[in-house]
Amino acid sequence: MKVIANWKMHGLKDDFLLWHKNLSETADENLFDDLGIAPPFTLLDECKTYQSKIKIGAQNISHLAEGPFTGEISAAMIKNIGADFVILGHSERRELHAEREDIIKSKLLEALNHNIHPVLCVGESKELYDAKKTEDFLYSQLYGSLNDLNNIKLSIAYEPIWAIGTGHVAKSFEINKIHATIKEICSREFDVQLENIIYGGSVNDQNSKEIFEQEHVDGALIGGASLDGYSFGRIANNFFDIHNR
Ligand code: 13P
Repeated sequence: MKVIANWKMHGLKDDFLLWHKNLSETADENLFDDLGIAPPFTLLDECKTYQSKIKIGAQNISHLAEGPFTGEISAAMIKNIGADFVILGHSERRELHAEREDIIKSKLLEALNHNIHPVLCVGESKELYDAKKTEDFLYSQLYGSLNDLNNIKLSIAYEPIWAIGTGHVAKSFEINKIHATIKEICSREFDVQLENIIYGGSVNDQNSKEIFEQEHVDGALIGGASLDGYSFGRIANNFFDIHNR
């Protein structure tokens, strides 16, 4: 999946039904294989039961397999209700829950052990961006999560922290350049199959076309603008216009 809705902590029972209806009125259902939604855990089952072609994912999993860990949800649990993918290392989790690279790496292994496709998020702060330290920082994040792993398949989401939820989308040419760098780092340094590299941070139906036109952008991870089915559908159409037709 290449265009993914990250609902974060939004969505109540039955919201997915209306969202899917509105999305289906906007975009071609035959192309839904390329779409994904990561709702809160509470809605995973409802999304899966609906049997859309859209891939279903979780926003997080525990780094542990099973045991007395109150409030945690394991890879086996989300696999059990049919999750296809999981978002790992989102900056909101890194910041709010102090997720370190070693924890994210353990989560990655848990996901892979349960045949769940990982979408690993990386991205720099405004301070690092201004100091032109983005590449060094991304390298350290990738090293922390991917070093020593063998032949793993994953997607990477490049999400500059300063672009998330701010309305300040990164410039398309910069996104393209950073995606190319991430691809190059992955092929040079790590034993990974990078299925695709997607961008996240203030993507909407107005700016997504230009982003999708970039050579090294394979899709997008969308927060705020994904909550409305029509809006997400228009973003999906911008992607399909460039990649599927
Ligand atoms: P926004 O699209 O709301 O900026 O969020 C991006 C994001 O964090 C997706 O994971």
